[in-house]
Amino acid sequence: MKVSIIGGGGRVGSDAAFALQLTGIVREIVLVDANADMAAGEALDLRHGAALVGGQFFTSGDYGAVDGSDCVVITAGLRRKPDESRLDLINRNVGLFKGILSDLKGVKLPGHATIVVVSNPVDILSHLAIQSGILPDRQVIGLGTVLDTARFRSLLADHFRVNAIDVKATILGEHGDSMVPIWSSATVGGVPVGSIPGWSGDSAEKVFQATKTSGAEVIKQKGGAGRAVGVSIMEVVNAIALDNGRILPVSALQKGALGISDITLSMPTVVGRLGATQVWEPRVSDEERELLHKSAQSLKDTWAQVQASA
Ligand code: 2OP
Repeated sequence: MKVSIIGGGGRVGSDAAFALQLTGIVREIVLVDANADMAAGEALDLRHGAALVGGQFFTSGDYGAVDGSDCVVITAGLRRKPDESRLDLINRNVGLFKGILSDLKGVKLPGHATIVVVSNPVDILSHLAIQSGILPDRQVIGLGTVLDTARFRSLLADHFRVNAIDVKATILGEHGDSMVPIWSSATVGGVPVGSIPGWSGDSAEKVFQATKTSGAEVIKQKGGAGRAVGVSIMEVVNAIALDNGRILPVSALQKGALGISDITLSMPTVVGRLGATQVWEPRVSDEERELLHKSAQSLKDTWAQVQASA
């Protein structure tokens, strides 16, 4: 499978490429970036390791090199400032993103291709990519709350001092301030979190707040995320490549789950070769359902602003 990363010369794109190299599933990775030298340098550095891991081919180039890609990952975009919300970022990133979509319209993509949007605000930009009509809507998804869910599970594992692999918990809704922790189905080793001795509402609030502010914290400490977002992208791209039926909280155009439609946000989604093959309606508490509707409304308000300024 050929994967092109638009923004591949940047921290997020190059960390995603490295994660894809270490897992060795996809066959060819092309890095495209406004900073062509950085993309070329990252591709060369990755290529040097091919003899030891993965055995893939790494190249860099312009949009002509993207022709024939089975999956296009878009990580290009300006990063948030520590005190800036992802939605604040919108005015700066929408114009840049529309330029990328315009360039992608000139690329020859196979009918089964998928687009995975990572650039922020990812739910809004994913919706723009869907609206562009470059591919059928289900074949255009956003990283959504896959990263938040990874952080949530990892921070819960830290709290309980257990292996994060055994923590099953998810964040749904917006990849942003209105994200929703689904406590009602959170388990550790199959044990509901709420029934674990010592767990309290304060513990829950502490872990969720740490999850929600993780992005801003990483920006403050090291200038921006790279490693965890890179492996999150890897998980989605490998699910597409392997068509292995993973259920991931990617951002997709909603068509009625929990009564939410016509907005792009994260719900449990079967990810396969053609992108979001099925959206599963999660079983949530009344409070969680209300919070998800608030998240959808927050995104709809922003979407309306973006449409109005188009
Ligand atoms: C984050 O939460 C990059 O939005 C991403 O770090």
